[in-house]
Amino acid sequence: MKPVDVGIYEKDGKYYTLNLIPGQDVYGEELVEEEGFEYREWDPNRSKLCAFLEKEGSIPIQPDMDILYLGAGDGTTASHMSDIVTEGKIFALEVAREPFRNLLSLSKDRRNIFSIMADARNPERYEEIVGKVDFIYQDISQKDQTEIFLKNLRFLKEDSIAIIVVKAKSMDVSRSPEQIYEEVEDKLGKEGYDILLKTDISHRQKDHAMIVIEK
Ligand SMILES: C[S@@+](CC[C@H](N)C(=O)[O-])C[C@H]1O[C@@H](n2cnc3c(N)ncnc32)[C@H](O)[C@@H]1O
Repeated sequence: MKPVDVGIYEKDGKYYTLNLIPGQDVYGEELVEEEGFEYREWDPNRSKLCAFLEKEGSIPIQPDMDILYLGAGDGTTASHMSDIVTEGKIFALEVAREPFRNLLSLSKDRRNIFSIMADARNPERYEEIVGKVDFIYQDISQKDQTEIFLKNLRFLKEDSIAIIVVKAKSMDVSRSPEQIYEEVEDKLGKEGYDILLKTDISHRQKDHAMIVIEK
């Protein structure tokens, strides 16, 4: 295994994280043992954060970070974050009952995942649990995804980074993805956030890009 970033490894063109709970896979991913350690394959087709890693070579996550994850689904990506942030916490928010059930059972084994069933449009409902975090990651395919992201940036510490996954077709099917990405960047810029990067991940997810901002 070759280290590519903190807590992330590569072998034969595949990405891996060090399994926090050896012996347990989360979504049927391959488990690989090497020199007494167990690694979980991280599939860029299943996880947009891994598609971002593939494009950029690193992700802005460190082991001691506290993270707010909006739209955590059934925990596929959150489980890899959980392998990485061994000294931090992940507040994983999900509104739908079915994926939340999986997320909840994941958080029983993985003690650094705190699952919250809530609508990300109502941050006041979970502000007492979340407090301030070092990183925000949003993967919510809704028409008002930019407004949802802006509402939740109140939880981000100063000089910290957040990523929004933009699914262009959820916002407007009649305009080109590029126009949508520009509109999102404009809205975030107007609210005073610095746009650090826009990464197109359409090689894995059609009409998706990830925008990285700094507060
Ligand atoms: C693309 S899926 C997430 C996949 C997940 N991020 C992963 O990589 O493993 C988007 C999720 O956002 C959730 N979602 C949609 N609107 C939401 C809202 N307003 N608040 C919280 N979650 C929401 C959906 O129920 C869905 O599970």
